[in-house]
Amino acid sequence: MSDFVKLTYQNKEFEFPLIQGSENEKGIDIKSLRAQTGLITFDPGYKNTGSCKSNITYLNGEEGILRHRGYSIEDLCEKASFLEVAFLLIFGELPTEKELNLLNEEIKKDSLVDEDLKLILKSFPKAAHPMGILASLTSGLTAFNPSTVNIDSEEDMREAIIMLMAKFPILTSWTHRKVKGLPLNYANISLSYVENIAHMLFKLPHQDYILNPIVIDALNKLLILHADHEQNCSTSTVRIVGSSEAGLFASVSAGVSALWGRLHGGANQGVIEMLTAIKRDGGDTKKFMSRAKDKNDPFRLMGFGHRVYKNFDPRARIIKKAANDVLKELKINDPILNIAKKLEEEALNDSYFIDRKLYPNVDFYSGIIYRALGIPTEMFTVMFALGRLPGWIAQWSEMRKNIEPIGRPRQIYTGEKFRTI
Ligand code: CMC
Repeated sequence: MSDFVKLTYQNKEFEFPLIQGSENEKGIDIKSLRAQTGLITFDPGYKNTGSCKSNITYLNGEEGILRHRGYSIEDLCEKASFLEVAFLLIFGELPTEKELNLLNEEIKKDSLVDEDLKLILKSFPKAAHPMGILASLTSGLTAFNPSTVNIDSEEDMREAIIMLMAKFPILTSWTHRKVKGLPLNYANISLSYVENIAHMLFKLPHQDYILNPIVIDALNKLLILHADHEQNCSTSTVRIVGSSEAGLFASVSAGVSALWGRLHGGANQGVIEMLTAIKRDGGDTKKFMSRAKDKNDPFRLMGFGHRVYKNFDPRARIIKKAANDVLKELKINDPILNIAKKLEEEALNDSYFIDRKLYPNVDFYSGIIYRALGIPTEMFTVMFALGRLPGWIAQWSEMRKNIEPIGRPRQIYTGEKFRTI
């Protein structure tokens, strides 16, 4: 096989190296394209563009494979905790018991945020969307912890990473409690990382909060399933913002904003909103199926389809089972969830969805579980952000350590030619 790809342009032949990943993915290295030919590539949405080499996550959309540092998502969900997966993503290997204990201790020590952050929180209206609040508070962390991270210092990098892993759950819980009008909660360091997330979100001042192992297990799985997904919209955002040498907190804050949208992390909220709208309309799922197929109607079935997975979403398989377990264990009988089941069955048997390889994605089921767990709809994307945090951190660290050039795409200008007033 040739190690070069030839391009013919204006009767001249140019050669570009072929590069290959460890799972045999191939790409054309076009770094010298413009210098050699004067041309640029045009690829809106970057469907054919590799922006980096990465060791973190392998995803094969055709075969439904998702692996972190070589471990399958199925294996990780069955045998690891969210914090272990976070360590794996960020530091490259699963932690030993000693490493995990140290990480836990470091996180616990850092589980406080500056009280003045409350002033920023206070200034938001209660009706503000939690993702907007979370993005602002995350960016605000920079102001309260202004020292820059020396990327050549392992110690500096670790300190920034631990700080964010410790403080981000507090910010998410404060966001939730602000919107709900509840007093702010602090970490309970006798709990595990995931138990503490549930405690900070749900503990009410006048009641004990009893941790339900089924709920914690489902939360653990949900967070692991969202932990990284290679170069998706929010992760690419984190990398590109970080490539300007903006700090970790600012880069992650940008990732939170990117995740907010309905076509990305906001889809889980979109699913429940769609199901609620169907119920309000009388519950006729067939009517909404027709709308989803009508090219003149902008309505899409939220939670169906994926940019990369074109056969099935492996995360959806795992979470579908967890959703069933949670619904059974908590004895939930929710009309919204019954509509979800009907819609899923109809779409899986409909030629429009079959032909286009549109299957329920992870967010179809994650929204269902969050609802069953009593997490308010507008908090769903915040839960996604909590899960995605280690992925963002790992990708940011990798980008900074590789000293990647600043992200700066080009364009094909289609505006007015030179003119005068
Ligand atoms: N409902 C109805 N039709 C759809 C849907 C849908 N949910 N998704 C795609 N299609 C159709 C689309 O109209 C197009 O039809 P045609 O070929 O006749 O023009 C065809 O399927 C291909 O669609 P596409 O827009 O080219 O697909 P894409 O890969 O660019 O978009 C997507 C992927 C996720 C943005 C899209 O499927 C979608 O909008 N889904 C609903 C939102 C959603 O659930 N997003 C969460 C994604 S998972 C979370 C994450 O990992 O970020």
